[in-house]
Amino acid sequence: MDENNPLTGPDQWETDLERRYPLSQQDEPSASEFRNYQAEVRPTVKAFYRLNHQHQTFDFVKQKRKQFLSLERRRMGVWEAMEFLNTLVDESDPDTELSQIEHLLQAAEAIRADRHPRWFILVGLIHDLGKILCLFGEPQWAVVGDTFPVGCAYSSSIVYHEFFRMNSDWGHPVYSTKCGIYASQTGLDNVMMSWGHDEYLYHVTKAHLPIEAQYMIRYHSFYPGHRENAYQHLFSERDQQLFEWVRKFNPYDLYSKSDERPDVESLKPFYQDLIAEFFPPELAW
Ligand SMILES: [Fe+2]
Ligand SMILES: [Fe+2]
Repeated sequence: MDENNPLTGPDQWETDLERRYPLSQQDEPSASEFRNYQAEVRPTVKAFYRLNHQHQTFDFVKQKRKQFLSLERRRMGVWEAMEFLNTLVDESDPDTELSQIEHLLQAAEAIRADRHPRWFILVGLIHDLGKILCLFGEPQWAVVGDTFPVGCAYSSSIVYHEFFRMNSDWGHPVYSTKCGIYASQTGLDNVMMSWGHDEYLYHVTKAHLPIEAQYMIRYHSFYPGHRENAYQHLFSERDQQLFEWVRKFNPYDLYSKSDERPDVESLKPFYQDLIAEFFPPELAW
């Protein structure tokens, strides 16, 4: 096990999410189910959360935003970014695990089958492209994992909350208070989230997408917000409304994985048209 990258691949976190939020109890898992969940978490996943909670500080996020949000690394089209991301392989079992492109196509196809608007299908197709951060050498704990606000107290509803005791912001006189550096009901636009693939992709794509799609991308890993209803004191009225869309997207991310592998080549023309409808031939990454 690589100490800085304990997961077999970034998807191991998502497999764990599926266990934490099983489809059968989508509404309210009981306390005993949650205890079961914690008892059965794989050591690699636990080690991953430990690193994530220890290192996602306010200063760390500021530094990563500075490092990546100038978007000067590469110019690539969306399909090209999908193929680039696909070079990321989960070590657990590359033969049975879905590839990155297959996960994206399954989510998009499930959204399409439910006859949602074309921009919604597009979100399914691209939502995880920010994981190319792994290919830029970033550790897993700075790419995937549940996201949460920094600069204010870490909600006790975040999984493995106890690991935040090792975070240097834990005892900070301002960051450890409920609202921290933020005004009550300030709106999430003013809130800095922990760093990862959501925030990065949001900045790459935001100029080309409707606001509902921007929210789905930016907050799809914000499980404390969209599944646990935490941080309500930071939400604006508008955030509340737009989170309905984040919640609408979540099942397609978590539960669209089927054993049937999508046929990438036959789906490619439909999705290339869809990409061209919203995006220029190249984006800045
Ligand atoms: Fe994701
Ligand atoms: Fe995903």
